[in-house]
Amino acid sequence: MKISMIIGHPDTESFNHAIALAAAERLTADGHAVWFHDLYQERFDPLLYAEEFPQNARLPFLVDEHCCQIALANGIVIVHPNWWGQPPAILKGWIDRVIRPGVAYRFEEDDSGEGVPVRLLAAKAAVVFNTSNTSDQREGTVFGDPLERI
Ligand SMILES: Cc1cc2nc3c(=O)[nH]c(=O)nc-3n(C[C@H](O)[C@H](O)[C@H](O)COP(=O)(O)O)c2cc1C
Repeated sequence: MKISMIIGHPDTESFNHAIALAAAERLTADGHAVWFHDLYQERFDPLLYAEEFPQNARLPFLVDEHCCQIALANGIVIVHPNWWGQPPAILKGWIDRVIRPGVAYRFEEDDSGEGVPVRLLAAKAAVVFNTSNTSDQREGTVFGDPLERI
């Protein structure tokens, strides 16, 4: 199967990178094709520009590559640390630019965006590894699960 893997962490020696590499190695050893994207290493620009709003917009090469791969992938793996209860900005920007209409979802003909989107992604499953340094107990009682919240 085709697996799209996205990591949003600046340090290639980090725990996050160790997780991503271990997952990629396992998937490759099991015969899957892994599209591995280290957003910091590829200097992914997280800013969504107004020109990209239209569904048929011409996208920069790297963004277009991400869009094509995420649409075709049978599985998605995302690895990131919890930064202030959120993914790092680079990954949030990746969502803004890549999880876009015509790629990840579309709206029905008479729907101007307030309805329920129709899914377009081929993938039936995604795994998100989200690391943090807060105890489970404090996370649950004070902050709430960051993945549930987002
Ligand atoms: C800017 C920043 C914000 C952070 N915010 C949180 C947070 O809100 N909750 C938390 O549990 N950990 C937080 N952390 C800690 C990181 O999540 C933790 O150090 C990281 O997941 C460990 O993985 P790593 O060794 O791969 O960096 C934050 C760290 C940084 C640098």
